Amino acid sequence: MAASSKGKDFDMETPRDPIAFILDEHDRQFEICDRLEDFVGALESEPSGQEAQSLLAFLTEDLPVHIDDEEQDLFPMLASRGYNDQNLNIILEQLAAEHELDRGLVEPIVEELRRIAEGRVPSDLRRLCMEVRAFTEAMRRHINWENRVVVSLARAILSEEDRTRLARRIAERRQHLTRGDT
Ligand SMILES: [Fe+2]
Ligand SMILES: [Fe+2]
Repeated sequence: MAASSKGKDFDMETPRDPIAFILDEHDRQFEICDRLEDFVGALESEPSGQEAQSLLAFLTEDLPVHIDDEEQDLFPMLASRGYNDQNLNIILEQLAAEHELDRGLVEPIVEELRRIAEGRVPSDLRRLCMEVRAFTEAMRRHINWENRVVVSLARAILSEEDRTRLARRIAERRQHLTRGDT
């Protein structure tokens, strides 16, 4: 589970198994996709500023940090341990490109969540529903792909030293996440 869910001023401990940690975060991302869809589905009848705030925190804090774990540490480690295998490099480049796409998809959703968290109505509910659907579909596909390919490969080829370094980097990256509302 992400550090930010543990409570205020929580100093995250270094995870014992960084690959399991990443898998847990993927599970949590699946849950967030469900929550986002439920949230926009119920927006007209029961808008929740608190849920908007919670989803906003995930999209602006937890998700970027997770992507940094992968792009700055996990993917380069796999590339180097994979002896620069061409197929692996293509997969990692594709996943990094999808991260970039996700950043674009998440931007307008974040803007609308900010409005709702402030007690205002969304500027365009129909468009927001479509944007959420595009984002959740892309996220689920991406996570499934990472779980099937990247996580399995990480289990097979990362050294003890890689795992220790990855775990340390995961903990360091979350030291600044101090909120506890999700
Ligand atoms: Fe990813
Ligand atoms: Fe991921």
